[in-house]
Amino acid sequence: MNFSKRLIESPYMHWAKTLQAARFNLGNSGVSPYPLRELPVRLEDLELSGPSFYGWPPLQSALAHHLGMPEDQVVHACGTSMANHLAMAVTVDPGDDVLIERPTYELLISTAEYLGARVRRFERRPENGWLPDLDELKRQVRPETRLIVLSNLHNPSSGRIPDALLREIASLADTVGASVLVDEVYLDAAFEDTPTTAAHLADNIVVTSSLTKVYGLSGIRCGWIIGNPEVVRRAWRLNNLFGVIPAHAAERLTLAVLANFGPIRDRAQRLLTINRKLLNAFLQSRKDLQHTPHLHGTVAFPRLRRSSVEALCDHLRKYQETTVVPGRFFELPNHFRIGIGCPTEILSEGLNRLGQGLDAIAATDGAG
Ligand SMILES: Cc1ncc(COP(=O)(O)O)c(C=O)c1O
Repeated sequence: MNFSKRLIESPYMHWAKTLQAARFNLGNSGVSPYPLRELPVRLEDLELSGPSFYGWPPLQSALAHHLGMPEDQVVHACGTSMANHLAMAVTVDPGDDVLIERPTYELLISTAEYLGARVRRFERRPENGWLPDLDELKRQVRPETRLIVLSNLHNPSSGRIPDALLREIASLADTVGASVLVDEVYLDAAFEDTPTTAAHLADNIVVTSSLTKVYGLSGIRCGWIIGNPEVVRRAWRLNNLFGVIPAHAAERLTLAVLANFGPIRDRAQRLLTINRKLLNAFLQSRKDLQHTPHLHGTVAFPRLRRSSVEALCDHLRKYQETTVVPGRFFELPNHFRIGIGCPTEILSEGLNRLGQGLDAIAATDGAG
């Protein structure tokens, strides 16, 4: 096979940037943007430049405090995206074996491939509550495995992995000297049962996350890696080849966010709690959809029992001004992903239109 790093791209991200926008956009996995005007920050609090080398000290300290981790275990990165890239780059060499969950966020695969990893997969199945199967992982892990990659909460299903299972996966990885990357970008959306990061569970767990998705703060790109001090030291140094330093004004905004976190968290929790009820009522009303109960998170991933998901998505875009994410981007083409972080009135009308779309394609293909 001809392999060129220069030609790697992410079909999913291209789709998300060019085809997801719609009046009723249920494709987005994040909570709708937090307005700058509601942050207690004045122009005088911002500055364009500052002593930000391996982290801007006031932010490094506030972030470590926010995460309940020592400062030498935290790397500030540009979103979970760059955190994932750095975390993989410091744990994997070209040719190394990397085990990645399926379904997953497509960028986790393309990033590992870009870094030259030999990617193999393990399944997270709906009939198992979308949990990884430890026995399958035991069969898959090899002496040359360097990294096992998971998302928790899971994108696309929002399934949550219990700490005990994460610990077992970490100790399995440890038997071959591998690390476990846990992408926790959606974890805080499990509000009811205050989540703690998997970074506490084992020394070979590397966590990535950000404030982007659950809090509607994508614009300030505050992400991070949590890992053992050696992983963290290497990630800081490697970042000198990429971003070098973040935009300082964004660091200052992030500091203001962390100092005023309560209302930001409350807003996200309120919105998701109301929207989850709408989603569950919708899912329960549809016999044509197979789904697991939606308990937490910002996205759901039902299976369309009979009709074509591609036909549904085309119909929704053409006739209903509505988008959801086709399951092909998650390698499960009979599923589709619904995001519930949008304003409630958008979700409510979007679900209504999704229902009309489902009825319409069932009627045309006689699947009703
Ligand atoms: C699992 C997962 N990780 C990372 C990201 C990217 O996050 P960020 O916007 O913080 O870069 C996403 C975005 O959808 C995601 O779903």
